Amino acid sequence: MNALDDMVSLARSAFEQAHTPTELENAKAQFLGKSGRITELMKGLATLSVDEKKSQGAAINVAKQAIESALQERRAALAEAELQTQLKAEALDVTLPGRERPAGGLHPVSLTLERIEAIFGSMGFDVADGPEIESDWFNFTALNTPADHPARSMHDTFYVEGGSPDAPNLLRTHTSPMQIRHAVQHVKRHRAALDAGQGMPEIRVIAPGRTYRVDSDATHSPMFHQCEGLWIGENVSFKDLKHVFTDFCRTFFESDDLVLRFRPSFFPFTEPSAEIDIQFQSGPLAGRWLEVAGSGQVHPNVVRNMGLDPERFIGFAFGMGPDRLTMLRYGVNDLRLFFDGDVRFLSQFR
Ligand code: PHE
Repeated sequence: MNALDDMVSLARSAFEQAHTPTELENAKAQFLGKSGRITELMKGLATLSVDEKKSQGAAINVAKQAIESALQERRAALAEAELQTQLKAEALDVTLPGRERPAGGLHPVSLTLERIEAIFGSMGFDVADGPEIESDWFNFTALNTPADHPARSMHDTFYVEGGSPDAPNLLRTHTSPMQIRHAVQHVKRHRAALDAGQGMPEIRVIAPGRTYRVDSDATHSPMFHQCEGLWIGENVSFKDLKHVFTDFCRTFFESDDLVLRFRPSFFPFTEPSAEIDIQFQSGPLAGRWLEVAGSGQVHPNVVRNMGLDPERFIGFAFGMGPDRLTMLRYGVNDLRLFFDGDVRFLSQFR
């Protein structure tokens, strides 16, 4: 029976050498197939005597079973190997660090606008919002700046469709048109009381927003921000402007170590007019006068265009630059950084 033992080990090594299911099935055919060696041996039994058939047949069956179980073993081994390769290919490394989803934040100028709104809000000012595409009337004429006024040349802007041929619509050059827009609405609501000789609640409003001029360098951008302020009543004076604006600056910069200067200036819509400069008494900016706003007492013609009697109503207005305030607050030296959208810059304000 050595021959059968040899055949079993021959089959076993043939199976071992098969590395794919197809190779294994081919190897199987050599032993267990229709003309495989075991099958041939079975056929040979026919010529033997009954006794020999019995003993030989039993021995062949033992060999056959040994080969079949070797085959099953190998099949299982190949399937397991295949599974392992597949698992490796689809491996998920749960120890890898997660992918970060960085949190966004408000733009530094937005932070400044929020701050301005909060501070003026605490002083009883409303916040108003208006169109960036403005008519010639609101941007200039209503603000005592008629078509031939030389002050218009300092406000060159981008003209757009709409309006009339000699007074086309434009991208607003300042937030001052909001003085008129807001006051007209306010006065409309209190028209009846005013006509009956009664008073109206004071107009106290700020109007932050985007403004446009043909200007571009390290401290000027064709699109920039302004915040208008307006306070109109029956007994509002320059003293109130000084008080409110000084309070604002000290709160905004979180410093009482700060002085203001009102430097005589000119705007068509205020009379008298002043530029407001601030000076820090300590810190990196100490000792320099820094211009932060234009201001003045609202011109009688403008008060009239608000629908009010300038003999009765008086007040002041100011227009400041939130971009400039942001630069001063954070020590930014180039205005254009605010509008480049570079995350390396912006993420520092998160
Ligand atoms: N609108 C003026 C400017 O843009 C600033 C200003 C506003 C001045 C209100 C006086 C009063 O330069």
